[in-house]
Amino acid sequence: MSTEAETPRIRVADENDLPVLHAVAARALCFDSFTEELLGEKLFRCPRPDRETFRVYLAERNGTPVGMMQSVSRPDDAKGWLGVFAVDAAHRRQGIATVLLRRVADDWRRARIRDVEVLAIPGNYFTPGLDPRYTEALCFLEHHGFERFKDCVNLLADLSDPFDTAGEEARLGKLGIVVRRADRGDGDLLDAFFTDHFGVDWRLEAELAMANDPPGLHLALKGGNIIAFSAHSGQNREWGFFGPMGTAPDARGTGIGRVLLWHCLNDLRDAGHRTSVIPWVGPIGFYSRYIPCRVERVFWRYRTAVSDPSMPAT
Ligand SMILES: CC(C)(COP(=O)(O)OP(=O)(O)OC[C@H]1O[C@@H](n2cnc3c(N)ncnc32)[C@H](O)[C@@H]1OP(=O)(O)O)[C@@H](O)C(=O)NCCC(=O)NCCS
Repeated sequence: MSTEAETPRIRVADENDLPVLHAVAARALCFDSFTEELLGEKLFRCPRPDRETFRVYLAERNGTPVGMMQSVSRPDDAKGWLGVFAVDAAHRRQGIATVLLRRVADDWRRARIRDVEVLAIPGNYFTPGLDPRYTEALCFLEHHGFERFKDCVNLLADLSDPFDTAGEEARLGKLGIVVRRADRGDGDLLDAFFTDHFGVDWRLEAELAMANDPPGLHLALKGGNIIAFSAHSGQNREWGFFGPMGTAPDARGTGIGRVLLWHCLNDLRDAGHRTSVIPWVGPIGFYSRYIPCRVERVFWRYRTAVSDPSMPAT
């Protein structure tokens, strides 16, 4: 453990620190490849500033950055997240991440956060859980009382060939279903759809996908109302990020989902991606049937209570 003299200086980082934050994170996160821009999105683009606070801490020793850690707090739900964290290899096992976690946990306590999860920050996540190949991180989390409660996977889709949607769209047309790209005038329809189905977090993800040009959001409508959607590039654009997608329960089984999926993947292919990451996947069978893809990564989801006795406190 660290001695008094070795105790790092911890300070709140801002966007001006992005180059050093990226350098620390990129050295430590050897199973991920990401630009400064992508990390900046994760650390500083708070999707709901009215409800959530993002904060990043930087650890320095003798003025040299040696570690970083992100906290997210959503007081309305008493929920928090531990975001990206990393310590330089030469400075590990000296308590630096623990000191960072203490600062983060103090934020959570001040915001009256009860439960925290690791990495799976709604609308802006680096990965949907911890890749267990980051074994030191797994040990660190378990040491501090975090419990693994679920697994999830990312798929990787092959975009070598375009997807032909014409035949399926003609068939859906005969059922009165129109498939089209979303546009700026769809706000009210989207509000109504996400209020009835899927909720606010996916409404937000749809909005983030709309920020692309052209909008990375495709819709299926019947009788003028949205019955299904699929989105891409709302975050992690450089990874060719697909999702989320969803079909209203009444409209399932009509073959809408595959057409919407193909439209999004065609967009990503047109944008120059050769593969697409389909993150935090539920129905693997659905994707495997309609596109060439495979499970690329497995993640372990971790959570804990801020009141857990292993959570460091000042
Ligand atoms: C995970 C990480 C941040 C830990 O940083 P650290 O400063 O070395 O952590 P600490 O010194 O505070 O460790 C606290 C405790 O965690 C546990 N721990 C940490 N690393 C461990 C390891 N390699 N093996 C076993 N236990 C470990 C130990 O119980 C340790 O206490 P101890 O040294 O008194 O036994 C660092 O290993 C790292 O940067 N890994 C790569 C980045 C990463 O995986 N990030 C997660 C995904 S974003």
